[in-house]
Amino acid sequence: MAEPIRITRAATLKTHPKDSELGFGTVFTDHVFVMDYREGKGWYDPRVEPYGPFGLDPAAAVLHYAQSVFDGLKAFRGRDGQVRLFRPQKHIERMNNSAKRMCIPPLDPELALRSLVALVGLDRDWVPSSRGHALYVRPTIIATEPFLGVRPAHAYLYFVILSPVGAYYPEGMNPVKILVVDQYVRAVEGGVGAAKTSGNYAASLYAAEEAKHQGYTQVLWLDGVHRRYLDEVGTMNIMVKIGDEVATPPLTGAILPGVTRDSVLTLLREWGLRVRERQVSIDEVWAASKQGTLREVWGTGTAAVISPVGELSHKGERIVINGGRIGELTQKLYDAIVAIQYGEASDTHGWLVTV
Ligand code: COI
Repeated sequence: MAEPIRITRAATLKTHPKDSELGFGTVFTDHVFVMDYREGKGWYDPRVEPYGPFGLDPAAAVLHYAQSVFDGLKAFRGRDGQVRLFRPQKHIERMNNSAKRMCIPPLDPELALRSLVALVGLDRDWVPSSRGHALYVRPTIIATEPFLGVRPAHAYLYFVILSPVGAYYPEGMNPVKILVVDQYVRAVEGGVGAAKTSGNYAASLYAAEEAKHQGYTQVLWLDGVHRRYLDEVGTMNIMVKIGDEVATPPLTGAILPGVTRDSVLTLLREWGLRVRERQVSIDEVWAASKQGTLREVWGTGTAAVISPVGELSHKGERIVINGGRIGELTQKLYDAIVAIQYGEASDTHGWLVTV
């Protein structure tokens, strides 16, 4: 029998900001989903509680060795009033893969799905209704055992928080300026680049700050071995359209298997476009720009969905993509995915779970 989820409702509810006041990840809803793990006992006591701070031992392993994973997905409110989660099973599958890589015990996928549906269901009034706004869902697992030896912890906490959000980048759908870095790398094959683990994001900050100081929104990472092949753009997967082919780096261990990446590749193939998962060197991008065949560049991710790249800068040289304007295919992809998310286009892939 499915394990019941205990629910303790918040005694007082917070006031909701207007959709127009929402940025990304600053406002949190009334409840949190929590579940504990202990070695020998497994995952136990799934519950929803009022949102609030956790008590955590100062020796908790996560605070010292960053043994933690997270994921990020969204719930949308359609014009019909229905609330839908976008590809929650795919996100759970990815979180469990991240967990395995970080020696964290995976969740029962069925219970994990119920945790998302139960929490979003209880806080459904928080799901924004205007286009470009959604409820961001952040499932996370952290190692809680108080122990300073370096080995997988024997105790964990799984929790889910919800945040009503607007655009991830202040630019919204306006093309962003990106600095190509070759002094720092995000990941190497054999490392943890394919896992959504907290340390990857901490490790990315220094290069991103340098780029910001130079007036760029984010960095384009190159591969960690040759410092030559495209890796990711900021926290997003990258895609380039050169001539009539769309290319994106293959999932060889360094690249995060993005759910939006997968959705975009699925749509492009259905539309009959030439798509290849292959290595793309920065030299190829520059040469294509010189030859006039670099048509569009964009990032894909849950937070921003699709983010057009308008400009790249590398070793002091700058290229402008599509005149710095959003490309036709970039816009078409954004519109198609958003239409599915808000329940306006039919969900032919079974990507939506109604809450
Ligand atoms: C995404 O959804 O694109 C991200 O990875 C960003 C998130 C870490 C805020």
